[in-house]
Amino acid sequence: MQLGIDDLAFATADRYLDLADLAPVHGVDVAKYTVGLGQDRMSVCAPDEDVVTLAAAAALPLVEDLDDAGRAAIRTVLLATESGIDQSKSAGVYVHRLLDLSPSARVVELKQACYAGTSALQMALALVARNPEQKVLVICSDVARYDVGSSGEPTQGCGAVAMLVTADPRLVAIEPVSGLHTTDVMDFWRPNYRSTAVVDGRLSLRAYTDSLAGAWQDYQAQGGAALADIDAFVYHQPFTKMAVKAHAHLARVAGGPRDAEAQAAQIADTLRYNREIGNSYTASMYVGLASLLDHATEDLAGSRIGFFSYGSGSVGEFFTGVVQPGFRQHLRAEAHRRLLDDRERISHAEYLRIVAPVNPVDGGDHVLEPTTRGSFRLAAISGHQRVYERAAAADAGSAVA
Ligand code: CAA
Repeated sequence: MQLGIDDLAFATADRYLDLADLAPVHGVDVAKYTVGLGQDRMSVCAPDEDVVTLAAAAALPLVEDLDDAGRAAIRTVLLATESGIDQSKSAGVYVHRLLDLSPSARVVELKQACYAGTSALQMALALVARNPEQKVLVICSDVARYDVGSSGEPTQGCGAVAMLVTADPRLVAIEPVSGLHTTDVMDFWRPNYRSTAVVDGRLSLRAYTDSLAGAWQDYQAQGGAALADIDAFVYHQPFTKMAVKAHAHLARVAGGPRDAEAQAAQIADTLRYNREIGNSYTASMYVGLASLLDHATEDLAGSRIGFFSYGSGSVGEFFTGVVQPGFRQHLRAEAHRRLLDDRERISHAEYLRIVAPVNPVDGGDHVLEPTTRGSFRLAAISGHQRVYERAAAADAGSAVA
């Protein structure tokens, strides 16, 4: 029996800042961003969006396509995020309610910087192995924020990916071998009192590639596939150039092709969506997977994909999956393209106005002006409670506290 990703969709904010509008503010040539970092745009959340609204929007089409028995089979929801909205309650519980899932379910939130989505996927596979009748809804959702004016600012972004993990998956069967690497390093972190990350940029690049080398060595020690037997590679993409650097590093340590063109061909399709969205932390590698599947020009069926998931701090994991026959019929490529094309370009002044998270601490009644055109929104923060609602066009009056 094969286990893996049966369905996948992503969501992002409905407005973006073009990095051509940020470069002059930083006093740099835009090529530093478009070529040096490999980023063109960053999605920017409206004040009434957060990881809950993004997560619910990503998962909605998956849940809507299930019949009653299929929905009831979702007995676990795992939500991975770096940018959670509560120290105690899982963001997934709000999402579970917004999606009207069965109460006969367990819901938890997982955290380890950008890596936690992969741990959610592995836990989901273990649960499905134990009971193949069950489906696990894995959601990775993040809003990536650095200080305004910092070197990390052009790599910001936001997005969520929802994946249905099942037996006999229609998209990608995940293979059992994993290479793991954990080491205590202060490359990127966010203390409880901060809404933006603290980062040692130079160290973070080295920590990422060291983690990749360590995870690859462990993957080999565990009996993983040879590099030559892996057809495409999907990396965590804090900015897409990082995947290019990582793939060159893997080629050096594992004896892969040294030719830059050959290397580029193995990752090119995975970079397209992230260039337009920016960093989405836990979601970014899985946005890369969506990008690969949606843009594949030749039939990828039967191809082995290598994944490297990295979370600063740090944990890295290298694993593989095999694309399933008929996968094309189950893609959401058109919806993904529409989502990105329909976003509104905002000015730098508007970006500055909305980028700070809404975070009142007084327990008062704070009603948020409707801004996002997304399927779900944060309507108010009232008496310390976040009040979410489904957008009127989709379903009037399903406010949830
Ligand atoms: N035309 C073309 N390229 C240009 C250019 C121009 N006019 N000007 C500069 N460049 C190139 C530089 O040569 C450089 O490329 P190389 O690294 O290939 O040499 C690239 O643009 C970036 O320039 P700098 O290194 O000078 O950029 P910086 O120091 O201002 O910032 C950064 C880069 C450190 C990555 C910063 O964006 C940052 O701190 N980002 C956040 C941290 C991060 O993403 N780390 C990644 C690993 S950690 C991780 O993966 C977890 C996570 O999600 C955060």
